[in-house]
Amino acid sequence: MCLLSFLNTQMSRPVAPQPKLDDTLLRCIGCGAVTPVAESGLACDTCGDLLEVVFPPPSVKPPLDAATLKALWRERRSSQLPADQSGVWRFREVLPSLGEEHGAITLREGNTPLYELSRCARVAGVEHLYAKHQGMNPTGSFKDTGMTVAASFARQEGFHWVACASTGNTSASMAAYAARGGMRGLVLIPEGQIAWGKLSQTLDYGAVTCQLKTDFDGCMRVLNEVVQRMPVYVLNSVNPYRLEGQKTAAIELLEQFDWEVPDHVIVPGGNLGNSSALGKAFLEMKELGLISTLPKLSVIQAEGANALVRTIRETGGKKLIPVQANTMATAIRIGNPASWKKAVRVLEATGGTVEQVSEVEIALAKAEIGADGIGCEPASAVTLAGLKKLVKQGFVKPRETVVLILTGHLLKDPEFTLKFHRGDLLAGTGYEKEAGLLNAQQRAPIVLDASMDAVLRVLEQAERAG
Ligand code: F0G
Repeated sequence: MCLLSFLNTQMSRPVAPQPKLDDTLLRCIGCGAVTPVAESGLACDTCGDLLEVVFPPPSVKPPLDAATLKALWRERRSSQLPADQSGVWRFREVLPSLGEEHGAITLREGNTPLYELSRCARVAGVEHLYAKHQGMNPTGSFKDTGMTVAASFARQEGFHWVACASTGNTSASMAAYAARGGMRGLVLIPEGQIAWGKLSQTLDYGAVTCQLKTDFDGCMRVLNEVVQRMPVYVLNSVNPYRLEGQKTAAIELLEQFDWEVPDHVIVPGGNLGNSSALGKAFLEMKELGLISTLPKLSVIQAEGANALVRTIRETGGKKLIPVQANTMATAIRIGNPASWKKAVRVLEATGGTVEQVSEVEIALAKAEIGADGIGCEPASAVTLAGLKKLVKQGFVKPRETVVLILTGHLLKDPEFTLKFHRGDLLAGTGYEKEAGLLNAQQRAPIVLDASMDAVLRVLEQAERAG
């Protein structure tokens, strides 16, 4: 029996309302075994592989037709009910049912903007480029859309403790939802490899935060050991309910396009839960008849954390090639991605591809997204860096419509941004020789005497420089 299911069956559960998930089924992505949720942990009892929620969920029966669903979801946008104001629970017909009407822990997540990126489009060589900015979620990353669902289930199942290993955003999100839901949060993060914005969030939201002297993959290993000994509920993206919530970003995106399907959706890859979730949503929307074609879903990784890229290129997606991860985009510094099989499946089903980008390409793309007045954290910028390569390769055609999924807010990692603009981002990284490539985007703060003349001189210079 795998660790997580051992936990769920062996631990003494606190007295709590019974889960009302009896009609939700979980299926193993490895051996295909199907189990009712009440009898299942977070991994397959038979083979230990990951589980996924079986679609369609029972709440779709009798099947609602596509037009009814579209109208219902649109109508809820003017409702005052917390569940309707959530950009996740608004789509509850395609989520596992919580059972209790007011059971959701919600911070009104989702409802994120779709921006046109006109300057970035010129840089990348495409005509129609958009950003779905998941960094505009309540805690500043896409994790909130999954966390509202999985944390609500944790509370409904009566858990007092929830836990995660994280590169920073999962922990920030989990800490917030745990606090809102009256639960305790245990956070395991790699020491010295977390952006300060994220670390400060977990502290403020009151989680017990442990900085372990290891990397993300090491934190995951320790977490798996902890859950054997303590009744804590894991809120990493191995938790299938997280991915159900994260599906809604794709549904909301389609709604924002008035159900016209973009040609390409490009997403950063770390532990690979998000790409899996978005792909699952597109496939389900097609199955439900809400769309008739699929966007090509492509995953971009940092060169230094390229396990999926290598897995696809060297084994055709058959066998994971773990790597020793290293990148300044700390959110995706992951070498042993848990959801790689799910990601391979959606790449194949949608006809997407994988690409890797260098540290310098990430830094440049991040500044370009910033200069479009949007901004994002470094991990999100791999999408634009990757798009440039996909256009050069001819995989993305200039006339096609492309959506970048920006996963985290600019303010998550201010240190990266400041170092970039001051010109010291690449110091000591081995990439110093390429620093010149970043010059055109750098805008270092200018220290001046407190005089109008000094400011006017700077203005004139800036005007001349264009
Ligand atoms: N972008 C950001 C900003 C992230 O925080 C992450 C993952 C990803 C992309 C990759 O998403 O793992 O679903 O492929 N962050 C996790 C964390 C691992 O712990 O916050 P993924």
